[in-house]
Amino acid sequence: MSVKKINKQYNVGVVGATGAVGQEMVSLLEKRKFPVKNLRLFASERSAGKKVKFAGVEVAVEELAKYKPSAADLDVALFSAGAAISKEYAPKFADAGIYVIDNSSAWRMDPGVPLVVPEINSHELSSDRKLIANPNCSTIQMVVVLNPLHKAAKIKRIVVATYQAVSGAGAWAIEDLKMQTKAYVENKPIPKGKKMAHQIAFNLIPQIDVFMDNGYTKEEMKMVNETQKIMGDNDIKVSATCIRVPVFRSHSEAVWIETQKRLTITMVRDILSNSEGVVLLDDPAAGKYPMPLDAECKDVTYVGRIREDISVPNGLAMWIVSDNLWKGAALNAVQIAEQLMKLQLL
Ligand code: A2P
Repeated sequence: MSVKKINKQYNVGVVGATGAVGQEMVSLLEKRKFPVKNLRLFASERSAGKKVKFAGVEVAVEELAKYKPSAADLDVALFSAGAAISKEYAPKFADAGIYVIDNSSAWRMDPGVPLVVPEINSHELSSDRKLIANPNCSTIQMVVVLNPLHKAAKIKRIVVATYQAVSGAGAWAIEDLKMQTKAYVENKPIPKGKKMAHQIAFNLIPQIDVFMDNGYTKEEMKMVNETQKIMGDNDIKVSATCIRVPVFRSHSEAVWIETQKRLTITMVRDILSNSEGVVLLDDPAAGKYPMPLDAECKDVTYVGRIREDISVPNGLAMWIVSDNLWKGAALNAVQIAEQLMKLQLL
């Protein structure tokens, strides 16, 4: 029996539509031709009435606090307005029967909320779990590469140092890097940042988010907890150091892993060459390896500098780069919405 394909369209909302990630969500919905019937954009009172172009039409931004969520006007809402907003509003949307794909950290570790990277665990999406969490940017790009290796050889331990772009800290952090760099070039005093606590131009800041009692930052502990939840294995040990760097876009990561089974470099290259969402860019002799500028506005996660870790048995070292605003945030969220469609949950 043949089933007639119905080209459905959906009412889509973006909360935090004026922010660094929210703007990318809107543009990716258009770029990827997500079947949008009606688009509603929400932000704070400050942005109410502002116009945003979507598919050739100007859409007015609405004040979130004034909107009463209803499944009659929205099928799915992508949230990226920070954890406090998500804590308050995401359950209201979900309770109204709207799928919420939340980019904040508010719900990620809630046992009832799936934390989804489509290449790894979209089987966790279901019609009775309307609230879905989008993982932390640095975690997403790491697990996209490491999960196939874990499946092949079981990863026991991960050590990672991140080099995270300012756009991960939002639109104001991008402005801080721009204005401080401009002041430096013009030989003027470097102004204090509006978002960054320390000068970010020509500097590195070894703190992302607040410090926890164990000496790690909250960002670093997100990489520990979210990796275990997404890969479905609490035995994987993770130690992370997260650094903010003066790069506008794309996070980079130096990653060391120890596996239970030995993987040769040939095996690793073979596995990663055949992994969804991963591109092997690894030809050091030709000066080819992933760099943040090359990853900008790319859907995939790049991996290179793959080598045996000479300091431990069954150890591997590699360098992973991806666009933090795309795969690390907006793209992963839109891909989750696409999965909901594919699984006929939307
Ligand atoms: P607004 O631009 O009106 O302040 P970023 O992470 O780049 O700083 O962006 C944060 C996003 O969250 C922006 O779209 C911002 O809107 C939105 N936002 C901040 N506070 C609120 C709020 N109280 N209600 C709704 N949206 C908010």
